[in-house]
Amino acid sequence: MDLESFHRRSIEDRDGFWAEQAGLIEWHKPFGKVLDYSRPPFARWYVGGETNLCHNAVDRYLRTQPDAPALHFISTETGEERSYSFAQLHREVVRMAAIMRGLGVGRGDRVLLYMPMIPEAAFAMLACARLGAIHSVVFGGFASRSLASRIDDARPKLVVSADAGSRNGRVIAYKPLLDTAIGLAAHKPERVLMVDRGLAPFESVAGRDLGYAALREQHLGDDVPVTWLESNEISYTLYTSGTTGSPKGVQRDVGGYAVALAASMKYIFCGNPGETYFCTSDIGWVVGHSYIVYGPLIGGMATILYEGTPLRPDPGILWQLVERHRVSVMFSAPTAIRVLKKQDPSWLSRHDLSSLRTLFLAGEPLDEPTARWISEGLGRPVIDNYWQTETGWPILTVAHGVEKTPTRFGSPGKAMYGYDVRLLHEQTGEEVGTNEKGVVAIVPPLPPGCMQTIWGDDERFVRTYFTSIPGRQVYSTFDWGVRDPDGYYFILGRTDDVINVAGHRLGTREIEESLSSHQAVAECAVVGVADALKGQVAVAFAVLRDPAQAQDARAREALEGELMAVVDRQLGAVARPARVHFVGMLPKTRSGKVLRRAIQALSEGRDPGELTTIEDPAALEQVREALTG
Ligand code: PRX
Repeated sequence: MDLESFHRRSIEDRDGFWAEQAGLIEWHKPFGKVLDYSRPPFARWYVGGETNLCHNAVDRYLRTQPDAPALHFISTETGEERSYSFAQLHREVVRMAAIMRGLGVGRGDRVLLYMPMIPEAAFAMLACARLGAIHSVVFGGFASRSLASRIDDARPKLVVSADAGSRNGRVIAYKPLLDTAIGLAAHKPERVLMVDRGLAPFESVAGRDLGYAALREQHLGDDVPVTWLESNEISYTLYTSGTTGSPKGVQRDVGGYAVALAASMKYIFCGNPGETYFCTSDIGWVVGHSYIVYGPLIGGMATILYEGTPLRPDPGILWQLVERHRVSVMFSAPTAIRVLKKQDPSWLSRHDLSSLRTLFLAGEPLDEPTARWISEGLGRPVIDNYWQTETGWPILTVAHGVEKTPTRFGSPGKAMYGYDVRLLHEQTGEEVGTNEKGVVAIVPPLPPGCMQTIWGDDERFVRTYFTSIPGRQVYSTFDWGVRDPDGYYFILGRTDDVINVAGHRLGTREIEESLSSHQAVAECAVVGVADALKGQVAVAFAVLRDPAQAQDARAREALEGELMAVVDRQLGAVARPARVHFVGMLPKTRSGKVLRRAIQALSEGRDPGELTTIEDPAALEQVREALTG
């Protein structure tokens, strides 16, 4: 079938299409209704059906391929390597579930995971799924304040963490960050389960902290049956940044997500049971949820959990892993490839890559030179795919499991089945024409696998995503895009204040709030500035309470360092601005709104254009001077 007809059917015969896809997973009890859309824009998929993510990712394969590899863990940071078959993975997940159950965790309880890339992180996610507990993974690169706000929003009964992670040979102790976060949080978790890797000694809080290794011994032989969940119960929440300083808990269901992932493995990633999938993301991001943990396992594939960078011990490490584990499908981010592009290209040809069929890249715009370099260097197709934490699986790409649609440089591809994608005029809400710029929007209902709501805040879900385009209730991605006459989309950047640093999605507002917590700062603005390696970096402009504090270069440098350290401490190094500039005032409109786009234009050496609403043009001059000074 051609992709266009496949897509059309998914929209015009929604129930028929998705009922068919539901057959890709196992159900304990069949669903009564494919879609309940009686309360738009809330979509409820596979109503009445009972299933379980852990069953579909693990138990299901005990029958057909218990000894096939399920998970390969490789840490080039610590030198550890461990592999688990489906049967072994099952045992570890059941043990972890038994520990959690013993700590009183059950259906609907939240468990927050603050973990490095180690197998126990995947065990914990799958154990939650098994019990019907809701996991919320917080990226290990985030620091105390970010973590505290997520603890307060999720109110977890249990936190699972580890002594440390490691990046680029540097041990990052997690426990002190976690202890500080729990200190800051209003809603303290009852228990903390600690995986001790022996990397960083830590203090245990009596009565609260428990060691994983000892508890695992106690539960070695326990049986924990799968808890069958109604399709619309909650599998997890995952926090993501938006326009405000408070992160949104993207909430996902069980049945719809399982079906969406199974379908994507078949139609988009074209992976088969028994093969190996290697995704270089992190379990703290949506790509890690969908394509390190759940997607490959649901597809019966072995997944690789890699703690390390693309350059250590040498720039051939990713390809060495492809060779050693006979990887068929690989998923990475453009930044990782741009990092490799700076190295000797012969690294691409030193390993046997005959098992590799396709490299998928996502998370940020894929520039043409990078795409060409890697696809020519590997001699393999490179497939860009565009999606969001909110959607859980690709919105735009090509689906070679449906049709061998050619890819086009600079474009992530076409609308995927299930997504009724439109490009709309920001102000009128009308559809824009071919080759015209519009907001990428999706006419609801959103397909299976997409967010159900914002955790604990239905009203915010509707307001945030479904009211920004006037005249109609459509989902806004907050990305600009254009479509060519052949239906290929091109993404042109965000419409809001979200930035994308090396594929990491960050809210500028959060960084501004962090900087403003320093007593020297009166106000500040953070913008995303184009960067050849990371796609974008955050650049800050700060107005000081006492301008004398930045009177000479030495004072400015010292204060800049201090402000960066504040962000490191509160949010984590991922959010640290690349530069902090000092200005006497920020360019604002007469009504007091900071003109971030003008600041961004100047920072990228572009003309900020006609600014009729600016209160004081001298403020722009100050930004210009700060940038050149
Ligand atoms: O701006 C788009 C950009 O990343 C945002 C979503 O980031 P996140 O929620 O972290 O989810 C990443 C899932 C892959 C989008 O709104 N983005 C993501 N993929 C692409 C992209 N921009 C251009 N091309 C892409 N392929």
